[in-house]
Amino acid sequence: MAIFIPEDKISEIKNTVDIVEIVSETVLLKKTGRNFVGLCPFHSEKTPSFTVSPEKQIFYCFGCGTGGNAISFLMKQEGISFPEAAKRLAKRYGIDIPTKTISAEQRKQISQKESLLHLNRQALNFFRQALVETVAGKRALSYLKGRGFSDEIMDRFHLGYAPRGWDNLLRFLSKKHISTALAETAGLVIARKDKSGYYDRFRDRIIFPILDVNMNIVGFGGRVLDDSEPKYLNSPETPVYHKSRTLFGLCSARDKCRVENSVYIVEGYLDLLALHQHGIENSVATLGTALTAEHIRLLTRYTRRMVLVYDSDEAGIRSAQRCIDTFWKEHVDFQREDVFREEKADTHILVLPDGDDPDSYLLKYGPEAFVATAAQAPGIISFLIDRAIEKHGLSTEGKIQIVSDLHATLAAINDSVARSLYVKQLSERLDIDEAVVLEKIRVAALRKPQAISDRRSPSSSASAMSASESLMTSGQKSLSEVGSRIEQQIIAMMLQFPQILPQIESRDVLEHFESNILKSIGHTLLHHKFKSAAQVSELLNFIEEPEKKRLVAALALTDESWDENGCRKLINQFVETIQRRQKSKLMDDKIKAAELKNDKQLLYKLLKEKQKIAIQSAKQKITLLSNK
Ligand code: CTP
Ligand code: MN
Repeated sequence: MAIFIPEDKISEIKNTVDIVEIVSETVLLKKTGRNFVGLCPFHSEKTPSFTVSPEKQIFYCFGCGTGGNAISFLMKQEGISFPEAAKRLAKRYGIDIPTKTISAEQRKQISQKESLLHLNRQALNFFRQALVETVAGKRALSYLKGRGFSDEIMDRFHLGYAPRGWDNLLRFLSKKHISTALAETAGLVIARKDKSGYYDRFRDRIIFPILDVNMNIVGFGGRVLDDSEPKYLNSPETPVYHKSRTLFGLCSARDKCRVENSVYIVEGYLDLLALHQHGIENSVATLGTALTAEHIRLLTRYTRRMVLVYDSDEAGIRSAQRCIDTFWKEHVDFQREDVFREEKADTHILVLPDGDDPDSYLLKYGPEAFVATAAQAPGIISFLIDRAIEKHGLSTEGKIQIVSDLHATLAAINDSVARSLYVKQLSERLDIDEAVVLEKIRVAALRKPQAISDRRSPSSSASAMSASESLMTSGQKSLSEVGSRIEQQIIAMMLQFPQILPQIESRDVLEHFESNILKSIGHTLLHHKFKSAAQVSELLNFIEEPEKKRLVAALALTDESWDENGCRKLINQFVETIQRRQKSKLMDDKIKAAELKNDKQLLYKLLKEKQKIAIQSAKQKITLLSNK
């Protein structure tokens, strides 16, 4: 619905919402000092640089530079428009928004995404009805029943049926006055090659609607009722459906994932249904695509322990290998490397015996057996070691072969702690000297460019970094490179204690700044007559330059408490420093002149004076540092 929200309602929303509460719904936040930090939901990262300030009601990621207030967070997180986000927050906090009925003009403005979701909902109604209420649907129903699925589970997952024929859905949609072009964008109908019209994508198939965490229907999967090919058909990528970011069943699983603190990731629609039917509801499925870093990141919001379930060794090995390739290797994204690290995601591989998939396994052995075997599932690397031992045996030749098979994998692990633990594990399992494995890995690592940045890992592996540290590791200019520390402190003070702004202005403090960027931030603050620290959030919205934005956020979020007295002291210190600098410059000029004139006596006197000033200034610096 296109809506117009009056300005005063926007302010009411802004004043009412709690950003920590909103962000906590999707990001695990940890309190550090006055702020909260967590892993950024907008880019892959290994150490939390996503910072939320309850005082200022802003969030900022020092890694990717995304920042704003609660409304912008929701917009970005959910991919929705400003009014949509505002509306959602209003609803949540019980703020009434007068809605106007939509005009024809406004109707046109309804976003394409909303239209697609609406269309998908209509289509699902059609598929549901076809399954439950038509004669043709009986075949599909009895197929599902025959495979052991209950009515309850079919309802819970809103299963449907796409009838036989080329235009059943097409005709239904045209009756509802839904545009065929939109249906084509949604991937529900396909244009005929000869351009003579369209036909339904899904025909005579069981339909699995794919819901996102907000219960929007983003896409569909369809299975045949016999052995014909292809067995499954899926919606193509659309503006609302991205396979690499979507997990089937997540909206039904997420609460259970939190409660059980684990998630099973399977490959099939029906496997997923079987798990849920057997009460194992902390389960999701990837859909005709390999597990991606985004899938993992999505899941880490709910749990760290992930069990990847496969029906064959090869699939398991491929997946484990892929996980390592995609997420541990430097060249993909330095920050992505330890999505799989122990404290981030504790990832295990479960291969079911005898080529069973989860569905057939559960039918044969029941849920307790499943959970019990899953509890034994080895971690990714242990799994690969096990498979290599199985393959090559533990003879001398076998061991050589195993090290040779695995050294590249181990070398690709960028986290030095994890890597050394795995090296230890491998050498213990093979009963060989750790140094031998290490040497092989070292040689392999040297051949790869990632060995260089590898050296960064130990220093950046601290679990919570300070704002300036995370600035440094994110490849941006670090705080320490921008202006002097005292200039930074002054800007931080201006941001956090705006009462001081008049003094900054009257004492011309900014004029003496050496850093142009800090100076310009300072001027912006003075210009906007920044009144309260909470306005930082507004400020972030209109500063365009990323570098500036980053600095403002970094300095607004430092953990310092300001009072009138402390502020005045800092300003005095700064002014004194400036005066000293000017004096020293004056002195240098005089010395130069004396040198030119070759006035030895004067030169001697001046040099002595300069020395005195230097000692004084060193003393002052020490006091400055100890006052911090
Ligand atoms: N898949 C797909 N397209 C195919 C085959 C498979 O997208 N042509 C995806 C589906 O998500 C499917 C999963 O891969 O659920 C696993 O495929 P498969 O093991 O072949 O099927 P099952 O899920 O076991 O389905 P069933 O038990 O009905 O055979
Ligand atoms: Mn199956």
